[in-house]
Amino acid sequence: MDRAITDLNELTAEAERLSEDAFARRVALLEAAEDICEVLRHAGYGSRPALRRAQRLVGELEASNAAYCARLRQGLLRGSLTPAELRSELDRLTAYTPERRALHIEQEPADRLVDGIMRLERFRGSPTIEDRDFVHLEDSPVRVLLDLIDHVSLAASDCFFDLGSGLGRAALLVHWLSGVRARGVEVQPEYHAFADSLAGEFRLERVRFERADVRDADLSEGTVFYLFTPFKGRILDALWAKLQQEARSRAIRVCTYGAISLAAARLGWLHAADGDSPHEFSLAVWQAGPAAR
Ligand SMILES: C[S@@+](CC[C@H](N)C(=O)[O-])C[C@H]1O[C@@H](n2cnc3c(N)ncnc32)[C@H](O)[C@@H]1O
Repeated sequence: MDRAITDLNELTAEAERLSEDAFARRVALLEAAEDICEVLRHAGYGSRPALRRAQRLVGELEASNAAYCARLRQGLLRGSLTPAELRSELDRLTAYTPERRALHIEQEPADRLVDGIMRLERFRGSPTIEDRDFVHLEDSPVRVLLDLIDHVSLAASDCFFDLGSGLGRAALLVHWLSGVRARGVEVQPEYHAFADSLAGEFRLERVRFERADVRDADLSEGTVFYLFTPFKGRILDALWAKLQQEARSRAIRVCTYGAISLAAARLGWLHAADGDSPHEFSLAVWQAGPAAR
């Protein structure tokens, strides 16, 4: 317990010195303070005052980072935060760089920043439609989306589709950073409703969410499709057939992340855009359509 209290004193002193924009350091202190709470919770009755202090520190760190996110949210709402400024905020909070495309595995402060800007913690819903081939909700790491923006040249004429769009995080972020039109298709009503309200809250006219099973969705507007392993089995087979059909009339790009990339590699009609072998934890970009071979 003595060690935990010494650490707590050091964390508290450092937290007081941090500048407002020290988001990443505050995330690190927060994680350390949460660990200290865990130790003190099991250290008996005498540790209660220190536990309360550690909990207060957690609350203060969370509040400071929430205030930072709120400032950026206001900037996005007013249009005073430019895409380049948002990008540079994210670049400060990720180890990813366009030149160093390491595997995208762990959560980073950039993920917390985006969650905070969108206030995703407000979501209290749950999936209501069951199917053995659905994959549960998990948000794409921000660095995967940065990788997509850097390595898939998005033009004003493109329309980005997130297939299995969850709470809308990927579609919103890609739109904010690139300006591209974005669509999301989500089968779960509560996820879709949240994403839809988020687009409304930020008054994003070029972002739309459809509540549908991808097998029934109209994909005809899409030029860039993104899939973070949203489903498997017969739903995935049906989606591949549908995308292949779309690619008969126009060039499309398909971006995959997760186990789905290994399935995509087995399809004869999708061609790897960058020649790298696909990996579960890196973004894979594929081309299909008249000019893709
Ligand atoms: C792994 S999450 C990805 C969320 C989001 N695309 C992202 O990258 O942050 C997969 C999402 O696909 C949705 N999903 C699963 N099966 C679906 C289907 N048949 N049609 C539409 N959405 C589906 C799930 O409900 C879940 O929200």
